[in-house]
Order: sequence, then structure tokens, then C-alpha cells
Amino acid sequence: MSVSATDISIKKVENSRLSQVDFSNIQFGKIYSDHMLICNYEDGQWKQPEIMPFHNLTLSPATTFFHYGQAIFEGIKAYKGPDGEPLIFRPRDNWRRFNKSAVRMAMPEIPEDIFIEGLKALIKLDENWIPATEDTALYIRPFMVATDEFIGVKTAEKFSFMIITSPAGPYYSKPVSIYVQDQYVRAFPGGIGFTKAAGNYGMSMYPTQEIKKMGYDQILWTDGFEHKYVQEIGTMNVFFVIGDTVITPDIKHDTILAGVTRDSVLALLREKGMKVEERTLSIDEIADAYKAGELKEAFGTGTAASIAPIASLTYHDVTMQLPPVETWETANYLKKTLANIRYGRVADTHNWVVKA
Ligand code: COI
Repeated sequence: MSVSATDISIKKVENSRLSQVDFSNIQFGKIYSDHMLICNYEDGQWKQPEIMPFHNLTLSPATTFFHYGQAIFEGIKAYKGPDGEPLIFRPRDNWRRFNKSAVRMAMPEIPEDIFIEGLKALIKLDENWIPATEDTALYIRPFMVATDEFIGVKTAEKFSFMIITSPAGPYYSKPVSIYVQDQYVRAFPGGIGFTKAAGNYGMSMYPTQEIKKMGYDQILWTDGFEHKYVQEIGTMNVFFVIGDTVITPDIKHDTILAGVTRDSVLALLREKGMKVEERTLSIDEIADAYKAGELKEAFGTGTAASIAPIASLTYHDVTMQLPPVETWETANYLKKTLANIRYGRVADTHNWVVKA
């Protein structure tokens, strides 16, 4: 099915809620823009996408995804450009990853036109919801759920794809303290670690609650066999600067999310001529580098988190304290360079930015 912007039906709000929003104090994921997009899948095909006022849904308690978690999502951001125009960062990469998640979760792939044209039309309509200050953006949350009214365990036949958007400030307000997890497991080869399936986040709640009680912010997951090789952090991919080399776990084994920010960071580092390695990285190697004074920087990357510096890493009874973030060259360079591209302050030589 090919959808052009004119195929999307649009019903606008009568009264915008925009004037009620305090843009000087926006937290992540608390308020939602005036409109949302819904597109249903039935009888083997996608129906007409509809943009309508943001509203609550009415669903049968027997709806499949409540019971079996056939649900996936994405995270994208739109920034306000120099002339106030909406600039969406790499949405086609998120669309491709969304469809990889869909295939693995036995859900229908969404055509590019519905995802991209729908997203653009929604952002254009709610462009005044994009906050204007540094470190802020409109967070875009596309998602899909299985909507059969059936509690037998089988692949659903009906699905709803939706997009909601939310003005957002920084996800983490300060450098994060990380606990290296070697009891619980996030992902293993052949599993769904590479997808943005809702269950990947649901399963992390209990272990994260436990480490928060101990005073840490987030978990660094390790592999499920030896608990030795680092994978990713709860909401982000992870990078370490060891000596003059930037190292991030490789994504060959289906266990790590192929982050769009991760990919952007790798491209920027390689262009700058820095030594970059994507490979298995053990927590022992990180601890040895720390002891030798070679662990210079560690940071997470993600759409919500952007570039999130790590203040400390705790593994068993050893806490590795990173140097003050102000002294870091790599993460600060990446943060600045990415911001310049996203806010349209420099030429977009990578074609990463899409106008709504
Ligand atoms: C994102 O970075 O967009 C994410 O989806 C991570 C988190 C907010 C769940």
C-alpha cells in the first residue's frame, strides 16, 4: 500500500492544550501533544492512517497484548531548526529497526509510507509542541500492539500501530552510576535482545528496582553464559574510552539493540579518524584498564538519553570512579557535534535530518 500525506485522515483538536504546558520545566515522558496517529491492521492489510486528538483507548480485557506481550516500540526525536522548522533525526533507520522487531515478534511490517508520512504529518501538525531550548526535543513514540480479542496463545491477526509525541528534556539530569549485573540476564543469542519489544524493558524493572535500592541508577547487562562480556545499559548502548581507543560491544549476536545514536556516534568517531573498535569487551578488561589509569571515559548512547556520561561503574565490591566529565574529550565532542547536526546548525553531510 502506498500512502501519501493526502491519504491520512486528520481530525484536529478543538482546543489545544499547548498553553497549559510549562516549557521551562519539561520532564521526560510526562505530557503528550495534542494529536496522535492510529493505523489498524486487519484482514491481512493496513487500513487508512488517521490523525486524531490524543485520547484514551477502549480495549477488551481479552486483548492479546495485555496477556502475551506482542508489543514493540521505537524512540525518535524531532528538533526545532534555526528557522523554527521541525527536523526529525534519522526516522528511516527507526522504521527499518521497527520492522526487524515486528518480524521477530510475528507482527506485520509497516510500510515506509505509513510510518514516515504519518510521522511527518503528525509532527507538522504539532510542530509548536517542539521545545526550543538546548537539550530539548519532541520525543516521538511509534508503537504497535496485537489487538485480537482472544486469550488462546497464537499469533494475532489484528494489530494497531500508533504514534504519540511528547516534549522532552534530558532523560538523565546528571552522570549515571552504573551497577554491572551478573545475576539477572537481559538477552542471549537467539532471543529478542536486538528488538525493541516491550518485554525487554518489562523484564528489566525488577533488577533495576533492586539496584536503585542500593543507590545506583542503571544496570550494565552482561552475557547470559559467563556474565563476563558487557552488552548494554537499561536504556542505552555503551561506549568506553580506553587509552586512545573507543570501544563498544559489537552487535553480531542478536543480544544488543542496534542503536541509531550508537551508529551515528560510530560514524562521527571514524570520520574524525579516531581508533574505534566494535568487539566483545569483558568487564575484567574494563577493570584492568581502570587499575592501569587507562579508563578515560564511559558513556551511554540512545535517542532518549542522547550521550549520557557514566559517573561510576560498580562491579562486585569495586567501584570504578570516572574522571570529571568536564575533562572528557570524546563524549563532549560527540554531544556537541550531534547537537549541531540535530538542530540544523551545520550542513547535514550524512543526510540524517528529515524535514517534516
Ligand atoms: C529511547 O531511547 O528512545 C528508548 O526507547 C529508551 C527508553 C526511553 C525506553
